[in-house]
Amino acid sequence: MKIISPDEVFRQPGARRGLPGWTYHSDELAGLELERIFLRHWLYVAHVGEIPRSGDYACFALGDERAVVVRDGGGEIRAFHNVCRHRASRVVADDRGHCGKAFICPFHGWSYNLDGSLRNVPRADTFPDIDRAAFGLKPIECEVWHGLIFIRFAGDGPGVAEQFAPAEHEIGLYRIAEMQPFGKPWRFPFELDWKAVADIDGEGYHVPVGHPELFDLVGPTYTDQFVDGGLARACGSFAGRKFKFERNRDYVAALPTDSYLPEACRQQWIYWGLFPGFVVTLFPDQVEVYQIYPSGRRRSVMAGASFALPDDRPQMQRARELNRAINMDVGGEDVDLVNWAAAGMRSSAFDGMLLSDLEVNVASYHNRLRELLPVVCLDNAPAAGTLREVNARLAAERRVAAVR
Ligand code: FES
Ligand SMILES: [Fe+2]
Repeated sequence: MKIISPDEVFRQPGARRGLPGWTYHSDELAGLELERIFLRHWLYVAHVGEIPRSGDYACFALGDERAVVVRDGGGEIRAFHNVCRHRASRVVADDRGHCGKAFICPFHGWSYNLDGSLRNVPRADTFPDIDRAAFGLKPIECEVWHGLIFIRFAGDGPGVAEQFAPAEHEIGLYRIAEMQPFGKPWRFPFELDWKAVADIDGEGYHVPVGHPELFDLVGPTYTDQFVDGGLARACGSFAGRKFKFERNRDYVAALPTDSYLPEACRQQWIYWGLFPGFVVTLFPDQVEVYQIYPSGRRRSVMAGASFALPDDRPQMQRARELNRAINMDVGGEDVDLVNWAAAGMRSSAFDGMLLSDLEVNVASYHNRLRELLPVVCLDNAPAAGTLREVNARLAAERRVAAVR
């Protein structure tokens, strides 16, 4: 694992000043981001433990795209567009569930095998000959990494495991694939651009002031690192600390001393983030995964769930519940902070951020956006209706400059 120094990250033009304010409230940019960023990068859908039986499925929707992942009859995980080939209804009504041996479209009853092939068409005699091979559910690229199911609607480039390779020595220790869902999935909706949420999630500089209890637990040792390959890592240890907050004391006291994890991991909270919005946090007692993504016009969502190895020791249960309670309160504290900062960025008084070395992972993902969508380098929004064209021109100019 090679750590990239903040100096290197902040050497990129514009990195210290963050993204310009207009990029947080431009519908045209949001459309381009959806198409070029979110639909072309890996998106987390579910953990394999959430769909353990053949016929169990989980859905995920983004923009106009809808996906369903399912465990097929052979135990394989597959992903399809959740779009019926007859007249485009979704083929499963719920977001999570069990469909037996086939998806049966709730509209007119076309059915599909779990490998996506067309199974049955009611009143097939009323259609001209249907080429069954051509009317299966359309597949979506899918990768299962440590039991976490990801999909990619379009594009190419490295897989999830490949991108997480620099983190494998650490993440691989946790046995995430063997874990089971712990507690209920959670979801924070925001009436804000996804970047406003990603900006706060990507740095620990706000922890001492914004999250007193979290700071009491891991704060003084908390470090953010940008890792070669584009991953964000943060880590804080509570080894040898004395706590002001009773809940922190109780949590650390409840953690069982015998664990399959190496010593250091037993006393650390670790965060790994993958562009654009996926995060896995590693705790001694459980693992939490979540994702930030756009969910509509100037709306976004941060949604996640926890997973843990089966362990019915009351002490472990207590540690897991306390961890969850601490983290849910941290999330609640972030909601206000996110909203206040995002509102301020619309004010006439806002003329750019000033990022600290401690906010290196905010700058690093901004750099990535500047690289993928050069239009975000502009101080002011392009004239209405021209954003795509301006972006294409800037990208072409950059290609020419690179050749020279
Ligand atoms: S839309 Fe699915 S069966 Fe008609
Ligand atoms: Fe926070």
